[in-house]
Amino acid sequence: MMKFDFEGVRNFVPSDAFQQLEERLNISYNQLITQSGAGNDFVGWLNLPEEIAPAEVNAVKEVAARLRQQSEVVVVIGIGGSYLGARAVIEALQHHFRSLEQNANAPLVLFAGNNMSEDYLFDLQSVLDKKDYSIIVISKSGTTTEPAIAFRIFKEHCEKKYGKAAARKRIVAVTDRQRGALKQLATQEGYDTFVIPDNVGGRYSVLTPVGLLPIAVAGYDIDALLNGARQMRQQLMVCDSVNDNLALQYAALRNYLYNNGKKMELMVAYEPRLYYFIEWYKQLFGESEGKENKGVFPAGCIFSTDLHSLGQYVQEGERMLFETVISVETARHTLPIPFDEQNTDGLNYLQMRKIQDINQIAELGTRMAHIDGGVPNMRIVIPEISENTLGEMIYFFEFACAIGGYLLKINPFNQPGVEAYKKNMFKLLGK
Ligand code: PA5
Repeated sequence: MMKFDFEGVRNFVPSDAFQQLEERLNISYNQLITQSGAGNDFVGWLNLPEEIAPAEVNAVKEVAARLRQQSEVVVVIGIGGSYLGARAVIEALQHHFRSLEQNANAPLVLFAGNNMSEDYLFDLQSVLDKKDYSIIVISKSGTTTEPAIAFRIFKEHCEKKYGKAAARKRIVAVTDRQRGALKQLATQEGYDTFVIPDNVGGRYSVLTPVGLLPIAVAGYDIDALLNGARQMRQQLMVCDSVNDNLALQYAALRNYLYNNGKKMELMVAYEPRLYYFIEWYKQLFGESEGKENKGVFPAGCIFSTDLHSLGQYVQEGERMLFETVISVETARHTLPIPFDEQNTDGLNYLQMRKIQDINQIAELGTRMAHIDGGVPNMRIVIPEISENTLGEMIYFFEFACAIGGYLLKINPFNQPGVEAYKKNMFKLLGK
């Protein structure tokens, strides 16, 4: 089970910080649990792990099995909340060099519609010329420009390659129950379609078919993912005391640090496979909290890689940072460092030590140095990276993010600011 360790903030936060925040925490917790806070028509994610219908999960598995059977590649088209959750889980679980693996028993999942790079789309199209593929197109609104452009291109490509009728069996839509251009198109073409519930916003939708379908296609266990989320939900929903509720503790400490000058959170992992999980976290918190001129700025790093780039700043730059480390206790494989007679590189003192141990010692040493340098440190500790622990973390962060938004007295479920760039872009394009 995931643990939360906040020993590393003791030098920065008074021992009565939880008491200081207790009243606001209680209000925020009740607003969320009773679904009475701002944006309360978007809290469907709260009960999702319990309420998702087994028939829905089975339908996801069935369609995933068909796509797996007919495809070498599955292109997942979507952006923001319709993209990052699936990618976070798939990249956390798959082989680091998945695209070079010869004997994988699942299609390679590639992503599109998350940028408007002509070269990216061109290159992907040239890959698809040579592969059998299917498409999952995901958009709640059904009108977002980036995925709409990508879908128009690959729908046409797929129809040319397989013929219109066969292409229809290779395209699956995940969208709103009744609104939007994608829903209309899916109905017209007769695509298999999954619904994004009305009361679940994009960035909270990974445990709906938005995330579950691509994850199942990639060959991962969506029951275990949901189970992890369910276990975390049971913990967080029954316990309204900050002394026992990990998400309340994390939200409270973030809020305290923010109100005391620590305006930026660095989410750190020492496992590169968590890169996209951190991207998912950045969207969740950035889009939820960043409004009304408030909010912790969510940033991310992979250490020790970034210790050789941003590490200098973290250690000695402007003191507006705190750090949350996703700490993974065990690696899947063992790779000891060999003995070398010549020892020219001077590494024999590490001989036969596991690289995972060295990575963990680097983590401990960095943590001590950063705390000494004025960077408060919290840790999310998981025994290993698995569907189960990813499910736990997804629910934990969603819950903490909602509480964090209510502590800041903002609506954590809308994103009015995202419209500003679109307005300008559409005007400039003459829409
Ligand atoms: O969290 C959100 O709501 C956004 O990031 C959306 O998911 C993103 O803008 C994509 O929207 P849509 O699914 O409507 O295409």
